[in-house]
Amino acid sequence: MTKTPLSRRLNNVARLNLVDSPTPLQRLPRLSAQVGRDIYVKRDDFTSLAMGGNKLRKLEYLGAHAMRENADVLVTAGALQSNHVRQTAALAAQLGLDCVALLENPIGTTREDYLHSANRLLLDLFRVQVHEVANLNDADRQLEAAAQQLRDEGRRPYVIPVGGSNALGALGYVRAGLELDQQIRAAGLDFSAIVLASGSAGTHAGLALALAHEMPSTAVIGVTVSRTSAAQHPKVQSLVEQTSELLDLGPPANMRIDLWDAYFAPRYGEPNTAGLNAIRLLAQTEGLLLDPVYTGKAMAGLLDGIACSRFEREGPVLFLHTGGAPALFAYREAFRSD
Ligand SMILES: Cc1ncc(COP(=O)(O)O)c(C=O)c1O
Repeated sequence: MTKTPLSRRLNNVARLNLVDSPTPLQRLPRLSAQVGRDIYVKRDDFTSLAMGGNKLRKLEYLGAHAMRENADVLVTAGALQSNHVRQTAALAAQLGLDCVALLENPIGTTREDYLHSANRLLLDLFRVQVHEVANLNDADRQLEAAAQQLRDEGRRPYVIPVGGSNALGALGYVRAGLELDQQIRAAGLDFSAIVLASGSAGTHAGLALALAHEMPSTAVIGVTVSRTSAAQHPKVQSLVEQTSELLDLGPPANMRIDLWDAYFAPRYGEPNTAGLNAIRLLAQTEGLLLDPVYTGKAMAGLLDGIACSRFEREGPVLFLHTGGAPALFAYREAFRSD
C-alpha cells in the first residue's frame, strides 16, 4: 500500500491480522448490460471468518484492543439475526474468549426461522451466552450493565458496541477505503459513486473519511437501513469526527455525507418488495447473494439511483457488499409470500 499521511497514522494503531489481503473488486457484466451502466462490487462479504462480512474489519481493531486489555469475554448486542454478533462470536472463539450477547427481536416476529435458524443458530454453535432483551433502546447502558455484572463475577469483559461502530471500529473501514483506493487506481477506474448500506454507521463513516482524503471526486452514498437521513446524518458525522480525532487529523474539509433513505421502509429488519427484487435480480444475473436487511435494500437504492439518474456524475458505480447472506435463511417466508 502506498504510504499516505492517513495510512501512516492508521498503521500506528494495533490490529489483528485477519483481513490481510484485499477483498476482490469485480465487475458485474450481466447486471451492467441489463441496467445500461457499469456496476462493480467490492466483495467484503468475502472476509475470512464465519461466512464473512464487514464486521471483521472493525473487529480487527476492537479485538486487538480487547486482547491488550486482557479481556476474557466479549460483550455485544444486536438483533436475533445480527451479522455483527455472529462475527463477534466467531472472533471470540478464534481468540479463545467467551462471548455474551444481548439480543432483541426488532420485528416482533414469532417465525421459527427468524428465532432459531441462520445467524441465531450459529450463535449456539459458537457457544454464545445469549440474553434476550425486550429492546436495545439504550444499548450502551444495557451493555455496560451486562459488563458490570460480569466484573462482579470476577470476569474481564470487553464491550463492543452495536455494530462495532465506535471510532476504533470505524478504522477498519478507513483501512478498507485505502485498500479500495489502491485497487481502483491500479485498475484505472473512475467511479462516480460508491453505494453501501448505512446502519450503525461505522462502515459508512470510515469509508467516507478515507475517500474524502484519497478520492474526493467519488461520492460515498449510504442507503439507510434503519433511519431517515435526518436521523442518520448526525450519527455518521459524529463518527467521522471521532475517527479523525483518533487518527489525530482534522475532519476532511468540505466533506459531504450523502444519504438515501427511501429504501428501508417499513422498518429495520423488515423486508420490502424492492429489496427482495434486488436480491432475486443479483442472484439470477450474477449468482451473487444479498440479504433482506442490509445489502438487498442498499442494492435497491443503487438500481433506483441509476433508473432515476440520481448519481451526479457519469461513470461506473461501485457497490460495497458488506455481507449478510446468512440471514437469508431466516427470511424464507418473505420470499414465499412476496
Ligand atoms: C450485512 C451488513 N451490511 C451492512 C451493515 C451496516 O454496517 P454499519 O452497521 O457499519 O452501518 C451491517 C451491520 O450490521 C451488516 O450486517
